Amino acid sequence: MAMEIDVFTLFPEWFEWFACQRHVRNVLARGSRLECVNFRDHTPLSGGQGDDTPFGGGAGMLLRVDVVEGALRARYAADPVDLRERRRVIALTPGGRMLDDALARELAAEPALTLLCGRYEGFDERILEHFCSDRLSIGRYVLAGGELAAMVVCDAVLRKLPGALGDESSSSEESFSEALDGGPEYPHYTRPAEHRGWRVPEVLLSGHHERIGEWRRERSRERAQAQREPGER
Ligand SMILES: C[S@@+](CC[C@H](N)C(=O)[O-])C[C@H]1O[C@@H](n2cnc3c(N)ncnc32)[C@H](O)[C@@H]1O
Repeated sequence: MAMEIDVFTLFPEWFEWFACQRHVRNVLARGSRLECVNFRDHTPLSGGQGDDTPFGGGAGMLLRVDVVEGALRARYAADPVDLRERRRVIALTPGGRMLDDALARELAAEPALTLLCGRYEGFDERILEHFCSDRLSIGRYVLAGGELAAMVVCDAVLRKLPGALGDESSSSEESFSEALDGGPEYPHYTRPAEHRGWRVPEVLLSGHHERIGEWRRERSRERAQAQREPGER
């Protein structure tokens, strides 16, 4: 299954590094696409201006609705108001729906995604209201721009596509997977079996796969329980 992702941003060069990462290269080699559109290339204003001061006053600059419309029209040759009916157009915004594994799975099942990265004070509200199918947040904190948030979304989604990871089983039993009933992953250990007196749990050295599986699921359940307890960090 291949996916097309377009990222709209004022800083497309940020994604050059991301696109070179192994799991991303793996999915691109299998037919997926990750491309950036620079808002500045589609502005009707001079000097590549894409933002403007807010009506009513206040600090910061906002991405302009006409600039975003121009960029979406140039890319898709369609009215952006209609576009969102047939393609997920996602604005990255701190107050949006929180990204979690269920949402990453949902997005990974889409054939195509469009991610809009805000900057400065964010978006003119009409962009969110009329052009976007989704508003997505990667956490309840504020970043300087949507680029890192878009990379987080791309990473969480692309690693779920076939061929992204060397070993497909590493994503079938990981934190929040169905195999662990949505709970956190169990602890892992590697060599040496003992370091400063800290021994790896004996069961993991036993070669008894059934007992190892039980032990792991139990540790995952314990961690899930601990996270539900008040005051747990
Ligand atoms: C400085 S932020 C704007 C914050 C906005 N004025 C507010 O108070 O919600 C600039 C841009 O960074 C992105 N951004 C910042 N934090 C984010 C988060 N937690 N999740 C997703 N995107 C975020 C958004 O695209 C946002 O438009």
